[in-house]
Amino acid sequence: MGLLSGKKILLGISGGIAAYKTPFLVRQIVQHGAEVKVVMTPSAKDFVTPLTLATLSKNPVLSTFTATDLDNPVWNDHVELALWADLMLIAPATSNTLSSMVQGRCNNLLLAVYLSSKCPVFVAPAMDLDMYSHPSNKRNLEALVSYGTNVLPVGEGFLASGLEGKGRMMEPEEIVSKIVDFFNPSLPLKGKKVLITAGPTYEAIDPVRFIGNHASGKMGFALAEVAAQHGAEVILISGPTHEKINHPSILLEKVISAEEMFTSVKKHYPQVAIAIAAAAVADFKPKNSAKQKIKKQQGLESIPMIPTVDILAYMGEHKSGQFLLGFALETENELENAKNKLTQKNLDGIVLNSLRDPESGFTVSTNKITYIDANSTVKEFPLQSKLDCAKTIFGQILKP
Ligand code: CTP
Repeated sequence: MGLLSGKKILLGISGGIAAYKTPFLVRQIVQHGAEVKVVMTPSAKDFVTPLTLATLSKNPVLSTFTATDLDNPVWNDHVELALWADLMLIAPATSNTLSSMVQGRCNNLLLAVYLSSKCPVFVAPAMDLDMYSHPSNKRNLEALVSYGTNVLPVGEGFLASGLEGKGRMMEPEEIVSKIVDFFNPSLPLKGKKVLITAGPTYEAIDPVRFIGNHASGKMGFALAEVAAQHGAEVILISGPTHEKINHPSILLEKVISAEEMFTSVKKHYPQVAIAIAAAAVADFKPKNSAKQKIKKQQGLESIPMIPTVDILAYMGEHKSGQFLLGFALETENELENAKNKLTQKNLDGIVLNSLRDPESGFTVSTNKITYIDANSTVKEFPLQSKLDCAKTIFGQILKP
């Protein structure tokens, strides 16, 4: 379930160069689970095509009062469209559109829909810096605020004119996060960063071969999804996997070896509130990785191995307020081994997986977990999908 599941968002696009970013905007809103319909001003079509937007939104895109491609023109019902929406977003909102909105002018479909709307309206202004700072524009924005419109701030930086300053449209991901905040004002991990390691690591024997394991990354990716659904900004550091991220609040850093995963973890760990080590990190790596492919004729009787760095133990040693959760994958003396890891690695909780259970483990989509908290309280959970396991785990982490 996305953070905007069940929501209907009407995107109004007016004719400014920032319109080229609206396909990304549509895609992200859709990724959050909302239904999107798009209405454009005629000039917006010079900057982005209706076909692109219709494909991404999976809905027809409207820009005229009537559908003229039929023998009997059909009225594009602006009132119905306006009443359909739970939220109307106008992005980019040009100076012209903003001023028409203030004055109640109705010379295109977008404006007609706006004037007919009863839902909350957000505008993301976009224009050149002098236009933006012009008193007329400032007065228009103030007027819109007084009508109850949510005016999003503009960004600062390079503008299409070549000038530099205030006037850039807010970036699509920021706009989406404003909308998400609007519909979900009290998400438990809002404003917090969560780091998750996932997947296997591959330790090179030579440029062709490696030592790895069967981890699929499914559990780590499910945890990332649930953390993002709780409002967190997620940094997902994953070894090689076929899993895909589906949430715009997840930043995926792909790594291959334990050493690369460690480098990435060290960079992000100080900034996060919660860190979860779900990766099946290789415990050993070849002492020397051959620069060239080892030829068959050379023979290979043994591969000298050395330990990899214990990433979770490092995080336990360098804790500065983070909640630290580890996983324990055991085949015997499960509880005892997991409790030992909890204390030895200075964790706040540990999730025990047993490979004895046929429906738990690496490649399957289900898991049977046992959660052990810092007081060594043990809670066993039934077999669940990995996504439900992730929800259970966050339920434990966020337990009051
Ligand atoms: N872990 C890690 N870095 C390593 C090894 C493990 O961060 N080099 C983390 C795993 O992500 C997991 C936890 O440590 O959260 C325990 O991993 P597990 O493989 O169960 O145990 P190990 O500590 O490797 O010990 P052993 O293999 O002896 O059971």
